[in-house]
Amino acid sequence: MGKKVTKAIFPVAGMGTRFLPATKSVPKEIMTLVDRPLVQYAIDEARAAGIKEFIFVTSRGKGALEDYFDHAPQLEHLLRKKGKDQLLETLQNTNMESGAIAYIRQHKALGLGHAVWCARRLIANEPFAVMLPDDVIAAETPCLQQMVEAHAETGGNMVAAMEVEPEKASSYGMLDIEEDMGQMVKVKGMVEKPKADESPSNLAVIGRYILEPSVLRNLNQIKSGSGGEIQLTDAIARDIEQNGNVYGYRFKGQRFDCGSKSGFLQATVAFGLAREDLRDDLHSYLHSLMQVDKAAQ
Ligand code: UTP
Repeated sequence: MGKKVTKAIFPVAGMGTRFLPATKSVPKEIMTLVDRPLVQYAIDEARAAGIKEFIFVTSRGKGALEDYFDHAPQLEHLLRKKGKDQLLETLQNTNMESGAIAYIRQHKALGLGHAVWCARRLIANEPFAVMLPDDVIAAETPCLQQMVEAHAETGGNMVAAMEVEPEKASSYGMLDIEEDMGQMVKVKGMVEKPKADESPSNLAVIGRYILEPSVLRNLNQIKSGSGGEIQLTDAIARDIEQNGNVYGYRFKGQRFDCGSKSGFLQATVAFGLAREDLRDDLHSYLHSLMQVDKAAQ
């Protein structure tokens, strides 16, 4: 029922203030989780979901992000000469097809909704994905792929949803549920960053969306919302009134909020432990730390 999703927007124009001073010169999306920049995880997930066109909404100071996607022929040549085949393969897996990536500038950080709106001319009359590289999701089937498969059945707008503790509601867009179908919920409203006791449910929206082009038209009309920013949530919520076709998708997997220091550290440990080449060392180090901790108590 849903049309095929082949384009994804990556809004990466935020200032990343929570990681200052690092983000003075390093875009947050380039910071490394084990040995890959955050953005590489998002690209790999998008590719697995069948995305062919990658649209980055960037801002001043994100040059390193654009450079990251350049091919590196000299480096490839050197690795080939030295017979470092595995590293060569790792490097080549990051190569993007010419013309597959577009960069659009968001001139002022007016919010996530505004960042998505900046890419409107690259989206035709088709559904598109929005991915926030800050949200890294460890999953057997990559999260966006799960959503694309579900979207093929439902069409409409789909947001990745996750249960959160009531006191965390004020950090998320929260769903007002019309019907709970288990893996999926039909949504009758969305509230951006409500107070804990005003949240309509404990289902939070996280950084994966499949949206209809009508959301871009809604963004044309939206002025600023919560926090003075133009909120994507408000534009999706408007589509509920007009078309009643918004779903929350309870993805299978573990999400790490790498936009926060604590989430980034947790992801580093989890992804490190998941790596065969690092697991034993890291595990015994963590174990020894716990022993010290216990001894100190
Ligand atoms: P955040 O709320 O995490 O903001 O944005 P931020 O600037 O990245 O980080 P902090 O809070 O200052 O540490 C969520 C996503 O929306 C993008 C960000 O780049 C991030 O991917 N965004 C946000 C934009 O592209 N433009 C904006 O105006 C705001």
